[in-house]
Amino acid sequence: MSKKKILIVGGTGYLGQHLLQSYNSNQTSQSHSHDLALAFTYHSTPLPQPLLDAFPDSQSFHVDLKSGIGFETISNAFGQPDVVVNCAAISVPRACETDPASAHAINVPSSLVKWLQSFKQTVLFSSISPQIRVNLSNRDQYIAKEEDIAIPLNVYGKTKVEAEKFISENCPNFAILRSSIIYGPQTLSPVPKSLPIQWIDGALSKRETLEFFHDEFRCPIYVKDLVTVILGLTSQWLSEGKQMQLLLNAGGPDRVSRVQIAEAVAQFRGYDTSLIKPVSASSVDRGVKSPADISMDITRLVQTLNINPVSFKDGVKLTLTTEAKR
Ligand SMILES: NC(=O)c1ccc[n+]([C@@H]2O[C@H](COP(=O)([O-])OP(=O)(O)OC[C@H]3O[C@@H](n4cnc5c(N)ncnc54)[C@H](OP(=O)(O)O)[C@@H]3O)[C@@H](O)[C@H]2O)c1
Repeated sequence: MSKKKILIVGGTGYLGQHLLQSYNSNQTSQSHSHDLALAFTYHSTPLPQPLLDAFPDSQSFHVDLKSGIGFETISNAFGQPDVVVNCAAISVPRACETDPASAHAINVPSSLVKWLQSFKQTVLFSSISPQIRVNLSNRDQYIAKEEDIAIPLNVYGKTKVEAEKFISENCPNFAILRSSIIYGPQTLSPVPKSLPIQWIDGALSKRETLEFFHDEFRCPIYVKDLVTVILGLTSQWLSEGKQMQLLLNAGGPDRVSRVQIAEAVAQFRGYDTSLIKPVSASSVDRGVKSPADISMDITRLVQTLNINPVSFKDGVKLTLTTEAKR
């Protein structure tokens, strides 16, 4: 039986590396139901050595989503993928604000989708960031459902809303995952951006007073739960091959403020929680507008995948105990 081909676009990023590890261990475990061939793309050069060492059987390709250069080489050397997971983006909102043209060209994956249009039987999974959503019949504080209207506040948000539209209008087979803050252990090759739980842990460990927002809410998802979702969708697609057009809120089960995020870290570590000073997000100029509340209803995610994402408290514990073993 020929191997099923999985391509991770942005395999060097935070989510991309976690996915690579999981697909790779599924590939080598005895329990998997499909034989997989794995490939991934990177953009910064050189490709980090830890990734070359960890995945010697996976092909890696230099791709620039801005120009689309690199995709033809994948067609020639790897062939048509069965599943493409797009994890590539300019994922830091401030960076999008300083270079909107690049943010648009990369975050709206038009070069990738154009390349995929030459293949009939390929599915695209894309991790997208959620934006504030309003149900027009209820403008009060609201846990957003997938069908609610998006109101992007910054360049990053605008590119993500446009990416959703572009993918759903131009791909016959897709799943869009509106991922909340993704948190968890550091990657094999550490990513350049700071990770939320590790950053808070490092800052609170200095035992100095720190300000956190009491009025900004998110539903953070533990990275391994998001990976489970993507592996589950992969299995569904490879087993059934039925046309997929899915839009899923991909968050954790708990709606937490930035203060509550910091408190969960402090409580696990035994730090003094009085060092956490609640302030309003409006008291700080971050150079980019940030949505106050992007909490989400994950009923559809739980029912579609039959999963039970970990509570935020347990996710923090898993993150920090994994870090301690590194
Ligand atoms: N992390 C979060 O908390 C979070 C929350 C919500 C949504 N998301 C979304 O989830 C996805 C994955 O996030 P992440 O945190 O894993 O992102 P990340 O760590 O910032 O990784 C970004 C990836 O994009 C690649 N890339 C950058 N510019 C590129 C270009 N011009 N052409 C091709 N590839 C390029 C990078 O390659 P190099 O490393 O080789 O440069 C890297 O592999 C993104 O769409 C992000 O917006 C993330």
